[in-house]
Amino acid sequence: MSLSTQPYKGTRDFYPEDQRLLNYIMWCWTEVVESFGYEQYNAPMLEPIELYSAKTSEEIVNEQTYAFEDRGGRKVTIRPEMTPSVSRMVAARRQELSYPLRWYSIPNVWRYERPQRGRLREHWQLNVDMFGVAGIEAELEMIQIADAIMQRIGAKRTDYEIRINSRKLLDKRIKASGVKSDVASVIRIIDRYDKTPRDDIVKMLATVVDEPEKLLKSLEQDGPSAEVKQLQDRLEALGITVVTTETLARGFDYYTDIVFEVFDTDPENNRAMFGGGRYDGLVGAFGAEPVPTIGFGMGDVTLANFLQAHKLVPALSCETDLYAVLIGDVYDAAQAPITALRQADITVAVDSTGRKLDKQIKAADKKGIKHVLFVGEEELASGTYRIKNLQTGKEEALTIPEIIKQLG
Ligand code: HAM
Repeated sequence: MSLSTQPYKGTRDFYPEDQRLLNYIMWCWTEVVESFGYEQYNAPMLEPIELYSAKTSEEIVNEQTYAFEDRGGRKVTIRPEMTPSVSRMVAARRQELSYPLRWYSIPNVWRYERPQRGRLREHWQLNVDMFGVAGIEAELEMIQIADAIMQRIGAKRTDYEIRINSRKLLDKRIKASGVKSDVASVIRIIDRYDKTPRDDIVKMLATVVDEPEKLLKSLEQDGPSAEVKQLQDRLEALGITVVTTETLARGFDYYTDIVFEVFDTDPENNRAMFGGGRYDGLVGAFGAEPVPTIGFGMGDVTLANFLQAHKLVPALSCETDLYAVLIGDVYDAAQAPITALRQADITVAVDSTGRKLDKQIKAADKKGIKHVLFVGEEELASGTYRIKNLQTGKEEALTIPEIIKQLG
């Protein structure tokens, strides 16, 4: 029996054309967050399991982690998210770091989920977090960044909706409805509000609160808190419209105040593309002095779906500028002019197969490389090379400095 060529369930192979789209997404993310002064950090992809048991959502810890024992008997987890790791890093150097910290990372994260549109078992996730600002300016900046990313990828403001809520307000309303066990289990149910029929939500709520109908009505009808309203007004003044959504919960246990999510308004792809919020208690959970913190995470899968749904995927072609077609046995002699081109930042791939010229040219065309450069004994002797643009068919005879001038 031969081995399967399929990647592991819920994961993806990135062929060069797929990787190009991922690189484009990452490049847009990086450009925007760095323009706001965010610095990149990283952390190991394995963490001790306890890191997540403390504060991540129960669903993720119990049902979605890739957890195993290492050869030394330590229980470890492949990171399902970055927030606990970054909080651990800040806690470890709580006193030395200079605040506010503006940090970002783009880790590959793993969750054992049921694969479906927009949800896989691994994805790349931009994490943007700010440590050390307690005021609402931190919320303003986070949502400004979220909006700037959407603008950077070419989205129209009507293509997406930014929803905000307050966990504090949610907590207050939940507590007023007679909590049977803990607020976190109520939050987990409300987190499903958008995807679940209302009657089912009421039934589920009845198991955790005394007055489920009253709670839902208050969430649906009583409007936002003054703090949320103020955030909305200040964003509006910056040209960013947000919708206050009192049923917005976000599943994680660590959020403490404002939470937000960005939704695709396309009915085919109506899901959260990214989300985050304030989580003031996580650094303190490591025994360090607490620090006010806010951040969000945004995945490549949902964003790629968004780009496709709104026809915003740019034409991304092979990055190689030139394909050197060798005429005869000139491989060694061709290296000098080719190296000169590379040193001038022109990217060159050499056809070293010795096959017929038309086959070499066809290969360049199939790879989407725009130019072929013919290198034979004659060209090497004269220092003038034929270069052909495969898209226009135009052919010219140029010296290496002339090629550098034209393509560089
Ligand atoms: P999250 O909402 O679980 O938040 O994930 C953030 C984003 O990652 C989602 O909106 C989605 O784009 C993407 N994502 C999550 N799970 C999957 C999946 N199974 N497949 C594809 N994409 C997925 C967090 O992870 C928080 N740690 C974010 C955060 C950072 N909060 C504060 N700082």
